[in-house]
Parts: sequence; C-alpha cells; structure tokens
Amino acid sequence: MTTLTTPDVVRSRGDLAGLRGTGPVVFVPTMGALHEGHASLLRIARERAGADGTVVLSIFVNPLQFGPGEDLDRYPRTFDADVAIAATEGVDVVFAPTVAEMYPDGVPHEGVVSEAVTVQPGPLADLFEGASRPGHFRGVLTVVAKLFGLVRPDVAVFGEKDYQQLALIRRMVADLCLGIDVVGAPTDREPDGLARSSRNRYLDAEQRQQAVVLSRALRAAQERASYGVPAARWAAMSVIKSEPGVELDYLALTTTGLGELPDYPEAGSEGRVLVAARVGSTRLIDNMPLQF
Ligand code: PAF
Repeated sequence: MTTLTTPDVVRSRGDLAGLRGTGPVVFVPTMGALHEGHASLLRIARERAGADGTVVLSIFVNPLQFGPGEDLDRYPRTFDADVAIAATEGVDVVFAPTVAEMYPDGVPHEGVVSEAVTVQPGPLADLFEGASRPGHFRGVLTVVAKLFGLVRPDVAVFGEKDYQQLALIRRMVADLCLGIDVVGAPTDREPDGLARSSRNRYLDAEQRQQAVVLSRALRAAQERASYGVPAARWAAMSVIKSEPGVELDYLALTTTGLGELPDYPEAGSEGRVLVAARVGSTRLIDNMPLQF
C-alpha cells in the first residue's frame, strides 16, 4: 500500500535531531536518481518502521567512492523527482547533505593529505568490484558509517543488486559492533530481466537491448548449477559471448559469502553468481543466487 506524506527535507546534521518518532528508525541510504528498485527498498523500510517508526532516506552522491575518470560529474541528479517518489512511498525524512556537510575538512581521497579517519575494509574489498575500482569500498563504508552515525538507525535497507557492497556493510556492522539490523532487499528487474539501476539511463536503445545479456547469462548459470561450477560458468560465458557489444569485466561463481567454491559443491548448497561488464561506456553489475 502506498501512503502520501510530505517528507521533511533536511540538509544539515543539526536539523536531523528531533525528527525521530517513538518507533524504530529505518534508514535507506542512496545516491538519488531514484527508480522503481529504490521504491521497493522504501516499501520494505516503511513496513519495517510501522506506523510509529520513522523512515529516513538519504540522498548523497558520495565523491569518496568514485575513482578518477569515473562518472561522479555525470552521475544523474534528479532531486525533485526523488522527493516525489519519497512522498509516494511514505518516507518521513529526506536527508540530503552537501559535500561540505559530510566532509567538512575536504574529501579524504587516497593520496590526498588528510587527517580524517576513514573505514579500512577487509580483503573482500579488493575482489570483484574492488579490483576494478580501487578505493571504492573504502569510500562506501566511510560514508555509510558517517550516515549511520548521523541518522542512528535501528534498521538499514540495502539492495542485493550491489551484493558485494551489502556483504561488506554487514561485515562492518558486525566487526565494529554497530548494532544495526541490515536488511538485504531482492533486486528489482525490468520485465525482460535487466536489473534496475540508476546507470541504465546512460544506455541508448541498442545498448539497452545488449544489456539484457547480463541477466540472461546469470539465469543460464542458475539453470546449469546442478551440473557443477564449470558447467554453470560455461553456460553463462556462452550467453555473454553471443553479444559482442558487451565487454565482460568479470563473471564469478562464489559461496554466498563471496568465498571460493569447489568445482562440485554439495548438492542442495547455495552460492552466488556475479557479473560486471561494460556496455558502451556504461559499467553494469548484476548477480543472482545459485542452488547446486
Ligand atoms: O548503493 C549506493 O547507492 C551507495 O553506494 C551508498 C550505499 C548510498 C553509499 O554512498
């Protein structure tokens, strides 16, 4: 059910104080450019918060998680449309800080002299997305830790679409004893299977057609998983190779915790298949569960 409210739009940390209700605070951190996938996270948040709780949505394009040459400057910014979606999904508070509010001493990029404390992720941050985007997860975990400190949520909702990010956030919350219940929300998809993403809007019509090969490849891996990892990998790779417009970055079959799998995992056990590829100049990621 959708509820129409007018969320409070808050720009500074001082203004966040006093906006909590009596029930749980449920937090959905985003970088804006909201789409139906974010709306599904907000619906989960509203349900978890209940009538007495407070749903807080943050919108902040975090410079610290973008590397040189990435799409920070052209990252879509659609603030008014985002607030309209927030209103439709019953969000109570939209927290949209400025860069100066979040990083008063400047953005502590790698290699920049800074006294700021940042979050050092463990070795999982060097694999998959981290291998292509050095420093990315340090940026993500640092901003999420800061947002957690400002919003002080009981529950935080993140999409499974960014599966490695979700795993690292869970790890940070556990290792730093933050006491927040982290909820992973299933990936929302277009009718043809393409995972919804803010970056899909960069695709032209031909690239949009080509991009669907990613979810088709993941499904092929799912269908062959009971034959073992090599067969599942081969099935996914042949789908990807059928689309020359797609430049593969990685295809990985892992445990649910992103660890290494044996070639023939125990029957009935679970894993994950993850893919990243470039379609034109747009880098897309996706993942799905595996059942062996
Ligand atoms: O998933 C995202 O949109 C971002 O990485 C997050 C978690 C909001 C941190 O900037």
